[in-house]
Amino acid sequence: MKIAETIGEVRTQVAAWKRAGLTVGLVPTMGYLHEGHMSLVEEAARRCDRVVASVFVNPTQFGPGEDLATYPRDFARDRALLEDHGCHLVFHPSVEEMYPAGAATFVEVCSEMPKQLCGKTRPIHFRGVCTVVAKLFNIVTPDKAFFGWKDAQQLLILRRMVRDLGYGVELVGCPIVREPDGLAKSSRNTYLTPQERQAARVLSQAVFLGQKLVAEGERDGDRLVQAMKACLLAQPLARIDYVQAVDSETLEPVHTLRGTVLVALAVYLGKTRLIDNFIAEGL
Ligand code: PAF
Repeated sequence: MKIAETIGEVRTQVAAWKRAGLTVGLVPTMGYLHEGHMSLVEEAARRCDRVVASVFVNPTQFGPGEDLATYPRDFARDRALLEDHGCHLVFHPSVEEMYPAGAATFVEVCSEMPKQLCGKTRPIHFRGVCTVVAKLFNIVTPDKAFFGWKDAQQLLILRRMVRDLGYGVELVGCPIVREPDGLAKSSRNTYLTPQERQAARVLSQAVFLGQKLVAEGERDGDRLVQAMKACLLAQPLARIDYVQAVDSETLEPVHTLRGTVLVALAVYLGKTRLIDNFIAEGL
């Protein structure tokens, strides 16, 4: 496995692979990797001849007062994990490499999508995500790129960006990977105190309850959301940011569950904000 710190090194390697007729899969990450990321790398290795993973804590997707400075980092460990799981090239650029002095160009999906759900408390987040992912697509020129459904809003916004800008990249969504007690894997789980970690099970309990209610025939979005909120409220350490059922195309709230619906939630445990969701299809 090679490590590249510059855009030039990545371009040279990818060009050589393309000349040899090999397909390239990209797994964008912010590092501090866990089994969720590894499932993306493994899927990329199954579907593509060569796998590129990026490890870059992207400053433009963090708002003022968010956890950019404290976001966990451990490149030595990430590198070993990536090598073990079949990655061929790690792109680990500096902030200056990705954002040269005076960088002033952003990519933004200018619809309601980035304003909904997490966008309400993180107004510049998805602009930062789209900008860095667009740059990674330009640098790596992958055939396919792999993202987790855990960040469902991110994946749906990136799908829109890819369609609108005509990127020739196939976005592959991979299932949420969970801890044995149901908690969705996240680098931010490491922020939780033992007590908060215990309490964090309630997120997946609310998700599983929502899935069960939909499977049993619930089609009233408001009733579904109320039931999930009641589940979360039973945990005194949990503070609800949002629970919403939204249209999977526009991300705007729906009152009747029809077609494909994203049911998403964000919950604070102490200072840590965690998210979880499920997609209900064929309604
Ligand atoms: O999902 C993430 O870890 C990040 O938002 C991403 C896609 C790597 C962009 O920085």
